[in-house]
Amino acid sequence: MTNQSSIIIAIDGPAASGKGTLAKRLANFYDFSHLDTGILYRGVGWLVLAADGDPRDEETATRVARDFSLDRLEQADIRNADVARAASIVAAMPGVRAALLDFQRQFAKSPPAGYFGAVLDGRDIGTVVCPDATVKFYITASPEVRAHRRWLELRLSSPGISEEEVLDSLKRRDARDSGRDAAPLRPAKNAELIDTSALTADEVFSRARRIVDQKIKNLPQQD
Ligand code: DC
Repeated sequence: MTNQSSIIIAIDGPAASGKGTLAKRLANFYDFSHLDTGILYRGVGWLVLAADGDPRDEETATRVARDFSLDRLEQADIRNADVARAASIVAAMPGVRAALLDFQRQFAKSPPAGYFGAVLDGRDIGTVVCPDATVKFYITASPEVRAHRRWLELRLSSPGISEEEVLDSLKRRDARDSGRDAAPLRPAKNAELIDTSALTADEVFSRARRIVDQKIKNLPQQD
C-alpha cells in the first residue's frame, strides 16, 4: 500500500490560468480535499475592508491574518474586484503570509477525515508552502486568453465591463504577484508546466491525471 495520506498536489499559476478548475477536478477524481489558498488572502483583504481599514496598512492586515479563520467569511463577497485588489496588496506582506502558512501546511499534511490526500492551489504552494509535494503543477495561459476567460465570468455581475479593462487589471495583478519580494509567483524547479491557452478543461485534466497517476505509481510502497 502507498501512504495515501501523504499525497499532496501543489498547483500554482496566475489568475484565470485554469488552476482552480484543475484543482477541483483532481480533488474530486482522487477523493482528495481541496484548498483554494487565494480565499485566505481574499478573506484577509475582505475583513480589512469590512472594518473600514486600509489594506496597505501592514500592521492591521497582519493582525487580521493572525486572527483569521475560514468561518469568519460566511456570506462574505470575496469575488469582487475591490477584494481582489486588496488581496493582492495584503498578499505581498511577509507578516500576512507568515500568519497564513501554518494553516495551509496543516491542511496539506492532515486533510479532513475521509480524504486520502490534499490539493492546494495558489501562487507559492510548490515553492514555499509544500516544497515536498508529491506532484507540482504550474498552470499558465497567455494574458489575453486569461483576460477573456475572466471577462466571460465578470460580465454577468458587471455588465458593461470591457475586455481591455479586465486585461489591464489582470496585468497589474500579475505584476504585483510576480514582482513582490515575499513568495513571488514563479514555477517551482520541478513543477510540471501546462499552458492551457489552447486546451479545453478536459484536456488539461487528462494531461494532469496522467502525470499524477505516474507519480503515485512510483511512490515507495509501504507495508
Ligand atoms: O487566486 P486568487 O485570485 O483568488 O488570489 C487572490 C490574491 O491572493 C492574488 O493576488 C494572489 C494572492 N495569493 C498569493 O499570493 N498566494 C497564494 N498562495 C494564493 C493567492
